[in-house]
Amino acid sequence: MLEDIIVTEKLTKVFNKTIKAVDQVDMGVRKGEIFGFLGPNGAGKTTTVNMLTTLLKPTSGKAIVSGFDVVKHPDEVRRRIGIVFQDSVLEDRYSGYENMMLHARLWGVKKEIAKERIKELLELVSLTARAKDLVRAYSGGMRRRLEIARGLVTRPEILFLDEPTLGLDPTTRFHIWDYIKLINKEQGVTVFLTTHYLDEAEHLCERLSIIDYGKIVTTGSPSELINSLGGDVVKITGEGDVGLAISAFKPENYIKNVIVKQDNGLELTIAESDKSLPKIIRKLEETGYNALSISLKKPSLDDVFIAYTGREIREEEASGSEGIKKHFVIKKLSRS
Ligand SMILES: Nc1ncnc2c1ncn2[C@@H]1O[C@H](COP(=O)(O)OP(=O)(O)O)[C@@H](O)[C@H]1O
Ligand SMILES: [Mg+2]
Repeated sequence: MLEDIIVTEKLTKVFNKTIKAVDQVDMGVRKGEIFGFLGPNGAGKTTTVNMLTTLLKPTSGKAIVSGFDVVKHPDEVRRRIGIVFQDSVLEDRYSGYENMMLHARLWGVKKEIAKERIKELLELVSLTARAKDLVRAYSGGMRRRLEIARGLVTRPEILFLDEPTLGLDPTTRFHIWDYIKLINKEQGVTVFLTTHYLDEAEHLCERLSIIDYGKIVTTGSPSELINSLGGDVVKITGEGDVGLAISAFKPENYIKNVIVKQDNGLELTIAESDKSLPKIIRKLEETGYNALSISLKKPSLDDVFIAYTGREIREEEASGSEGIKKHFVIKKLSRS
């Protein structure tokens, strides 16, 4: 769309001629929204951010950020964006205030203007009282808040946050979410963030794309994505021939999605669960699969991710490849 503040067309990055880190990504980020890229480790999130922020040249395709082509006009793009990297890049030997001022001066913000902005931004992320302390003494959450504030000192139109709460404890993560929402609202800045935390994407993003193996799998608001599953999720554990149960379920129209879990259990997404559940129980009895437990729940983004990719992001381990749990998807949702 014309008014989108970030637009990409078939954006692609290939490393070493073989690794397709980002594969023909088309997206549009609307001005003023918090937009997220949700995907497991190695999905291509950082590579995408690096291309959008002009740090990395695309292999092919196009990206327009704040009205400028990232390859043709990188300086114009840089002038209009702020970045918070996945790994902290603060000067430990300087205070929070000094870190802000250094960054502001480096980016050509006049001292008097910088002073005013820094005061306001430190207030916004509740660091005023600690501004004079050395960053060395800051907690993980304080560092992140400082980095977010620092990214705003140039008054960017877009703030890029690569895994903004990586490695932080849950309470600190919730606080960072509040600050991200606050700066989005108060500073009117568009936020593009990446995350492998499902709850983060669900709570923070107005819209998001799920990215897997460099490709966008689906895009929408969290509730749109969840509704796209077309029903509730039934979890079944049991013993016996799961294959027979699958054969029985596959042709049924009210069953949208069938997943076999590693423990021989089943996960079905079903429409009109009040009517469908009794049918499912009867079918299980007919096929001789011995169900030991059946539970029904509203789907979450977790279920969306599994339904589209056949895999699960296990949050506590998502920084390693073992964090990706393979399931067998029998009936799969089509890409939208
Ligand atoms: N400089 C590089 N050289 C070669 N391969 C890379 C480089 N940077 C990233 N990759 C590969 O590209 C893929 C995407 O990586 P990345 O964008 O860092 O994913 P994410 O941020 O989603 O974890 C991975 O397979 C990664 O190993
Ligand atoms: Mg990354």
